[in-house]
Amino acid sequence: MNKTAVIILAAGKGTRMKSEKAKVLHEVGGRPMLSYAIERAKEAGAAKTVVIIGHQAEKVRAALPGEGVVFVEQSVQLGTGHAVMQAEKALKGFKGDVLILSGDVPLITVDTIRGLMNSHREGKGTLTVLTAEPDDPYSYGRIIADNKGRIKKIVEEKDATSKERSVREINTGIYCVGSEFLFKALKKVEPKNVQKEYYLTDIVGIAVSEKRMVSTFKAEEFKEVMGINSRIDLAEAECIMRTKTLEHLMANGVTIIDPSNTYISSSVRIEPDTVVYPGAFISGDTVIGTGCSIGPGSIISDTILGNDVKIKAYSVIEESEVREGAAIGPVAHIRPQTVIEKGAHIGNFVEVKKSTIGEGSKANHLSYIGDATIGKGVNIGAGTITCNYDGFKKYQTIIEDNVFVGSDTQLIAPVRIGKGSLIGAGTTVTEDVPEDSLVTSRVRQETRKGWAKKWRKKKKGSK
Ligand code: UD1
Ligand code: CA
Repeated sequence: MNKTAVIILAAGKGTRMKSEKAKVLHEVGGRPMLSYAIERAKEAGAAKTVVIIGHQAEKVRAALPGEGVVFVEQSVQLGTGHAVMQAEKALKGFKGDVLILSGDVPLITVDTIRGLMNSHREGKGTLTVLTAEPDDPYSYGRIIADNKGRIKKIVEEKDATSKERSVREINTGIYCVGSEFLFKALKKVEPKNVQKEYYLTDIVGIAVSEKRMVSTFKAEEFKEVMGINSRIDLAEAECIMRTKTLEHLMANGVTIIDPSNTYISSSVRIEPDTVVYPGAFISGDTVIGTGCSIGPGSIISDTILGNDVKIKAYSVIEESEVREGAAIGPVAHIRPQTVIEKGAHIGNFVEVKKSTIGEGSKANHLSYIGDATIGKGVNIGAGTITCNYDGFKKYQTIIEDNVFVGSDTQLIAPVRIGKGSLIGAGTTVTEDVPEDSLVTSRVRQETRKGWAKKWRKKKKGSK
C-alpha cells in the first residue's frame, strides 16, 4: 500500500461560532470536534499526521491526544492554503499522497475516507476532491465543471457568480493529493479573492492549468461531510451523531425507550437487554453490562456497571464502579472512586464518595458516606454520616462485615467498627469499636407521665 500522510486543518478561530473558544474545541458527542479527524487519520493508516493549530494553539494541544500526531503552528490565519503550507517542513522527505482533513468536519466516516483514497489511487491522478450534493449548498465552495463535466475549479460562496451559486455539488474541504504537486502549487496561490485569503481550493485550478488529472469523489451522504461553522451546525451535528449512536446501540439489543430524549456519547458501550429510560445522559468511558436498567434522568459518566444493575430515577454516578446486581437510587449521588460491590443497595438521597460498599451491604436512606471502606452485609441506617473532614484533612472510616449501624449515627473519622458490632440509633462514634460490641452514646430517656396534659391546661387557663 502507498504511504499516506495526513494534514488536519484546525487553526481557524471559527468567527461564525461567536465564541471565545477555538471552534475545533467545541464538542460534538462529548468530545472536541477535532478529535474525530485525528481518530479517522489513524484509522485510515496515516504514516504521519500533522495538525495545523493556531487560534488558542496551547489549549487545542492540551485537549487532544498528542500520540502519533505532530502539531504545527500557523501563527496568523491567512486561509486554508496558507494553513497547509505550514506542514511542508514537517513532511519534508515524505513522498506520496497527502490526505487533507478538516478539523470542523467531525461526522465523516472512515469508509468515505477510504473510498476517496481508493478512487484517488485507482485514477492515478494528482488531486481528488471529496464532494457532496446537499439540498442547500449555501456557504460551501462550489465544484465548477467544464463542458465535459470534469472539475475545473472550486469557487467559494463569497466569490461566486449567481450562476456558480446555483451549482449543488460542493467541496467538502477534504482532498487526496500528491505531496510534490501540493507544496509546489501552494506557492502559486495568491490571496486574490473577496476574503483576501490564501485558498487551498485554488490548487484545483492550478492542477487543471498544468493539465494534471483532477477528479472528484462524491460522498454518499452529505450529512457526514457537513462542516461546522455555527452553533446551528453544531446542534445539527450533535443530533445526527446522537441518532447514529442510539441506532447502533438499539441494533445491538439495547432498549432505548425514547431516542429523541436520551443522550449517550459514542464512546459508551452497553450490552444487550439493558433498558435506558428517557432523559438519561451517559458519557465518557462508561461501560454498561447486560440486563441493566438505567432510570429516567440518570447522569452517568466514566463508570463501569456490571450486569443486572438497577440505576433508579435521577441518580448521578461519576468515575465509579457498580458491580453485578447492585441497585442505586432513586436520587442517589455516587462520586468518583467509589466501588459498589455485588448486590449492594444505595437508596434515595444517599451520597457516596471515594468509598467501597461491600457485597450485599445497604445504605438505603439519607446518608453521606465518604472515604469509607464498608464490608459485606452491613446495614447503614437512615441519616448516617461519616464525619470525614475536620476542615483541613480527610479521614477514613472502616466498617467491617455484618455491622448494623442504627439511624442518625455520626461516625467521627478516623474510626473503625469491628465485625458484627451494633451501633444504636443516634450514636456519635468517636472511638474504634471492637468486634461484636454494642455502642450507644445517647442520653437515657426520661418520661414524665401526664406532664403534657397538665401543661396544656395551664396554658389555656392563662389566656
Ligand atoms: C472551506 C473551503 C470550502 C468548503 C468548506 C467545507 C476553502 C477556501 N474553502 O470553507 O470550499 O466548501 O471548507 O467545509 O478552503 N483553517 C486554518 N487556517 C486558516 C483558515 C482555516 O487552519 O487560516 C482551518 C479551520 O480551522 C477549519 C478549516 O481550515 O478547520 C476550514 O476553514 P473554514 O474557515 O471553516 O473554511 P470554510 O469557509 O468552511
Ligand atoms: Ca468550515
